Amino acid sequence: MVPATAGRSLIKNMSIFAALLLKRMLIARTRKELDSFFGRAGRENRTLGLVPTMGALHQGHMSLVSCCNSENDVTVVSVFVNPTQFNDPKDLEIYPRDLEKDINMLSGSGCDVVFAPDVETIYPEPDNRVFNFGPLERVMEGKLRPGHFNGVAQVVSRLFELVKPDRAYFGKKDIQQLAIIRKLTALTGLPVEIRGCDTLRENDGLAMSSRNMLLTGEQRKNAAIIYRTLREATLKKELGVDQLKTWIADTINSNTLLKVEYVEIAGSSDLQPVTHWAGSEAELVICVAVRAGNIRLIDNVFFSNFVLL
Ligand code: PAJ
Repeated sequence: MVPATAGRSLIKNMSIFAALLLKRMLIARTRKELDSFFGRAGRENRTLGLVPTMGALHQGHMSLVSCCNSENDVTVVSVFVNPTQFNDPKDLEIYPRDLEKDINMLSGSGCDVVFAPDVETIYPEPDNRVFNFGPLERVMEGKLRPGHFNGVAQVVSRLFELVKPDRAYFGKKDIQQLAIIRKLTALTGLPVEIRGCDTLRENDGLAMSSRNMLLTGEQRKNAAIIYRTLREATLKKELGVDQLKTWIADTINSNTLLKVEYVEIAGSSDLQPVTHWAGSEAELVICVAVRAGNIRLIDNVFFSNFVLL
């Protein structure tokens, strides 16, 4: 285990709570390091929160860290680019990685432990588990990215086994992922409370994302149209569900740098598409995936009775 701010020997035998007292942030790279770290001190009735990430951290991630901090005694942030959830090898190849920058960002954030394992630590042998998430995985991201959520479930369940958190924090920006993780804990009985956190946005409304840094200047500027369109859509009482979806797709596609992959309007918990405006109080979510060149951006807004939530 390599401490971010102190010498290796000083920290090696230190318990988590002594480390916390000294406000050191620790970095664990292997299962052994993590085990000795947690094993020696025990948990002593302290709550532990986990924020799983793939690194390339931005303020959206940091908002999860701060939420985790406020609800737990110990905050662990994992940084691991999980190969099993990338259905497109090109996407995995270009995914931004800069652990040193991530560590700098996390130090002083209240994060106590950065868990940055290598592939062998997470997958000592190939993970052949296949989860069945039912209708949840047959829409939107699940439909367009076969195997993606199975890979997410593999890595998150492994992280839960290794870190054993009381709570884990996920962003509502990836609303289908959040629903999948809730289902995963229900299916596996893993005793982890799943917390969903609001989407953090840039000043122009674009949802923060590690992929934004891969956009060209022009694409970045134009990408703001996505959220602007979604917001406006929630006010369009005069349109039916299908008409509204068409209006959203047409509005975004009218920008030549953007290409809509899907627009869906669904119940906010089961994520099953709705075909008409049934119960006026139902909480709904509009989800979109949009391509800007090779970069795929997703976003969503929640609304009820034509009021943005
Ligand atoms: P990653 O894309 O790094 O995102 C880590 C967490 O940050 C996710 O829960 C995501 O929803 C949240 N997040 C991303 N952008 C956000 C924003 N603008 N505001 C608030 N939260 C935001 O999602 C993953 O990694 C992976 O699939 C993972 C769960 C780590 C499994 O590999």
